[in-house]
Amino acid sequence: MQSNQTSCVTRRCRWQIAGLALLCATLPLASLADERPAILLGAAWYPEQWPESRWPEDLKLMQAGHIHVVRVGEFAWSRLEPQEGQFDLDWLDRAVALAAQHGIGVVMGTPSAAPPAWLTQKYPETLRTEQDGRKAKHGNRQQGSPTSVRYREFCRRITQQMAQRWGHNPNVIGWQIDNEYGAFSWDDETHRQFQDWLRKKYETLDALNRHWTTEYWSQTYTDWSQIPMGPGGNPGLDLEFKRFVTASLRDFQHIQVEAIRAASDPRQFITSNFMGWYDVFDHYVLSQELDLASWDDYVGSGHLDAARNGMTHDLTRGFKRKNFWVMETQPGSVNWAPVNNVLDRGEVREMAWQAIGHGADAVSYWQWRSALNGQEEYHGTLVGADGTPVPLYDEVAQIGREFEQASEALAGTSPVADVAILQSYDSRWAINGQRHNRNFDPVGLLLSYYRPVRELLQQVDIVSPDAPLAPYRLVIAPGLNVLPDDVSRRLIEYVNGGGHLVLGPRSGMKDTYNALQTARQPGPLVPLLGARVEQYYALNDDVPVSGVWGGGKARLWAEQLKAQGANAEAAEILLTYGESNGWLDGQPAVISRKAGKGRITYIGAWLDDTLMRAATQWMVRLGSLEPALGPVPEGVEVLRRVGAGKEVFVLINHTKTPQRVALPRPMRRVLHDGATATAIDLPPRGVEVSRGR
Ligand code: GLA
Ligand code: GLA
Repeated sequence: MQSNQTSCVTRRCRWQIAGLALLCATLPLASLADERPAILLGAAWYPEQWPESRWPEDLKLMQAGHIHVVRVGEFAWSRLEPQEGQFDLDWLDRAVALAAQHGIGVVMGTPSAAPPAWLTQKYPETLRTEQDGRKAKHGNRQQGSPTSVRYREFCRRITQQMAQRWGHNPNVIGWQIDNEYGAFSWDDETHRQFQDWLRKKYETLDALNRHWTTEYWSQTYTDWSQIPMGPGGNPGLDLEFKRFVTASLRDFQHIQVEAIRAASDPRQFITSNFMGWYDVFDHYVLSQELDLASWDDYVGSGHLDAARNGMTHDLTRGFKRKNFWVMETQPGSVNWAPVNNVLDRGEVREMAWQAIGHGADAVSYWQWRSALNGQEEYHGTLVGADGTPVPLYDEVAQIGREFEQASEALAGTSPVADVAILQSYDSRWAINGQRHNRNFDPVGLLLSYYRPVRELLQQVDIVSPDAPLAPYRLVIAPGLNVLPDDVSRRLIEYVNGGGHLVLGPRSGMKDTYNALQTARQPGPLVPLLGARVEQYYALNDDVPVSGVWGGGKARLWAEQLKAQGANAEAAEILLTYGESNGWLDGQPAVISRKAGKGRITYIGAWLDDTLMRAATQWMVRLGSLEPALGPVPEGVEVLRRVGAGKEVFVLINHTKTPQRVALPRPMRRVLHDGATATAIDLPPRGVEVSRGR
């Protein structure tokens, strides 16, 4: 709560008055945390790149720009430990204190993505080995090997030092471990770890040989040391290698989590910045011991694709099934895309609010100012090389001001959905390992379901198949290729209990070892469905399909279904293939069956957008599902956050023309005058936050 010194200044106007350095300087630090808005604007700041005499000016500009938090420290190892065992944390301590004086909180990054030159020179085994056997070199980043025992020890030590210094600092609100995990090492030490990991998992070579069917091509192993390190080609080995990478990165992360937890207040969160759909590791596993998930949201070339970007926010929210952070996002442009075009005026704000609507509680720009040299000189920033604001600065300041305005309304709220889309790393890895049609992109398939669901219902979760399913009235698994027994049991329970399960093509084909199920697809779910896949076909040409959802095309993939078994009679054929390769002609493409108190539906083809929309309308009708606020003009995104007796909508016009949204009941316009309105006018790329309760 507010201390005596600040009680005269309300939470809201504290953040609206720029230039509060003097007032803040007199505040006890603990009160700053209470004063922070619920929705934060941030920037990545690298004080080590600038003379200390410059810091006050930067922080003053940040404060005037309504920036509430800076992320510091990641990549600063050579300054924090200039020589082995000699730590110099004082400079960063001064930066943290100075930020506090400007009312700016700090997320402390651990520097393990950038080991100093002395370290890798003296201990070359800490350097990663690329897949082709070459050693990584100093001069870039991520050259440290996350599996090297010695490297992990150095990471633990620097993290401990930092945690001891800032674990109780009231101005440090949280921690980011490393930066964008993913670089891996193919050295002998890692290879042995892989073999040991397999030994622990399978216990006997017989078990491993059996599950991987190693009689095939004489792959049979008679000693653990014979097992090659993936990716190796054998689908069983490949899937296990991905899981091993996941386990290794989790261990690498765990060492730092442990070091921080041992020396910090529970108030400080721990996160790591992920990269959306990047699939080098299973993000559900690495999220487990983090307090919140965060990701780096970059458009690169072109412009915001609202559906795809929204889907990635929902993916990230699903990692911990709670609100998340956008730890980095582009201030206009990046430096690494084929063409680094700038986002349009207003588009940065449109993106920021999209993040908040999807459940982000912070949006942070990368970066505040470019280092004068180094690989990223051309990247977008908020101030220029001369240290004064670039044109985008004002738009970002507006975002910060709006976050403050909307904080009271949004505090304690989160998106809630009746529909879940299941996404599984195992299934993505399995399909990507053997696409069979090179254009069969599992994320693209997911998007084909996500897009109409988001449009028609305005709220959807993306979660792991291991998540609790009871909260959902509809569960869609676009391509659950790997179907472990426990997941199939839970899906059967879900349907019998009254849920509607919709499976997409390629579902239920593999077991947890990436081996073919001995039942045809969808494997253990065949009896529930009363039908099975007779045969699958990769498609060169579209195939006509028609039925109760109307007519359209199957693309890329088509499965010939057949009602079968004891429950066959109750199986309803919803779509049938037209004339194509002879095999598919007149055969079922979609089958649905009422089962228990619920329903299961199998969609055997990648359907075009029109059919997907009709299919979604059917699912919505069947489930008596309602959009959060509806109907709205095309291109307007409606995002609802609820909680603490509140219902708040973020409305975004993603089009380039003005749009009007009629509200079903009067609501307050939070970003504008706070007045009650029954319709909201949104200019091109315009945003409003409206509060129902
Ligand atoms: C070649 C090989 C076979 C098999 C087939 C698959 O002919 O000799 O072992 O791999 O290709 O098309
Ligand atoms: C990533 C990194 C940052 C920076 C940006 C540039 O997100 O985490 O350090 O390199 O890309 O877009």
